[in-house]
Amino acid sequence: MSSPRLEVEYADPTPLQARIDTHRKYSEKPDDPGTDVLAAIELTGTEHLADIGCGDARFLANLAARGHHGPLVGIDTSPAMVAAAAAIPGVQAVLAYAEQIPFDDNTFDVVTARHMLYHVPDPRAALAEFRRTTRPGGAVTVVVNHPHTCPRTAELIAAHAGSYGITTTEAFTATVDSDSLPAMMIDTFGTVRIHRSDNALVFDAAAPLIRFAEALFGFHGVTPDHPQRQAILTDMSEDIEDWFAHHPGQSWRDPKGYIVATAAT
Ligand SMILES: C[S@@+](CC[C@H](N)C(=O)[O-])C[C@H]1O[C@@H](n2cnc3c(N)ncnc32)[C@H](O)[C@@H]1O
Repeated sequence: MSSPRLEVEYADPTPLQARIDTHRKYSEKPDDPGTDVLAAIELTGTEHLADIGCGDARFLANLAARGHHGPLVGIDTSPAMVAAAAAIPGVQAVLAYAEQIPFDDNTFDVVTARHMLYHVPDPRAALAEFRRTTRPGGAVTVVVNHPHTCPRTAELIAAHAGSYGITTTEAFTATVDSDSLPAMMIDTFGTVRIHRSDNALVFDAAAPLIRFAEALFGFHGVTPDHPQRQAILTDMSEDIEDWFAHHPGQSWRDPKGYIVATAAT
């Protein structure tokens, strides 16, 4: 089950959309986990597919736009994300936890869980649910980040949050990453195929880095209604602007990456 803090973080899709937008525009190499997932599962267009932790459901919208005519299901714990999925014609949107998927055994041909499993306190329980609800001969594809992804930006936010007394204990900790997922998938499914993406965010100016860092505030305990939020944002923005002023012609580079792990069921 997700924590109340995680539910606050995803109550509004805007920070998630700002992060996705940043990865699309400011990655050193093209960054498109959705395309990597599609390459891993090779859909025919007829599959009954569930996307768990579907977020703003752009993956399902893309499938529908490509003419996928099998049933599409979006599952998420955030009412705002479920509403976004429900707005896509033909998508069944369901408010539920990955650890308790309200569908019968062997319902789906394909289950995808993109950039969500690290939020689940017991990722093995969610993987067991993915297996239970996917029919034999189907596929489960999970995307998770590398450990310590974007460490430079994370350190910057943590330092500014820390100067206002917000400690790392208030930050989210990933429960699974690209180092630990393959063994978990093998334990659950007996097999796993890995596609790895190693990349970096590269910023040539302060504004997009400030926007990205602010979109990560919730993960560092700086909640939308935190009384010091504006002061932390002001200090951090000045710090970032200072960095660019003192490093003319240089870019802010922050390593990141993910794996797409696919198991046959
Ligand atoms: C980082 S976002 C990723 C959204 C989308 N999959 C994407 O890649 O753009 C994580 C999503 O997982 C959802 N989530 C978190 N914990 C969950 C859980 N236990 N079960 C289902 N969804 C969950 C959040 O509400 C959020 O929409």
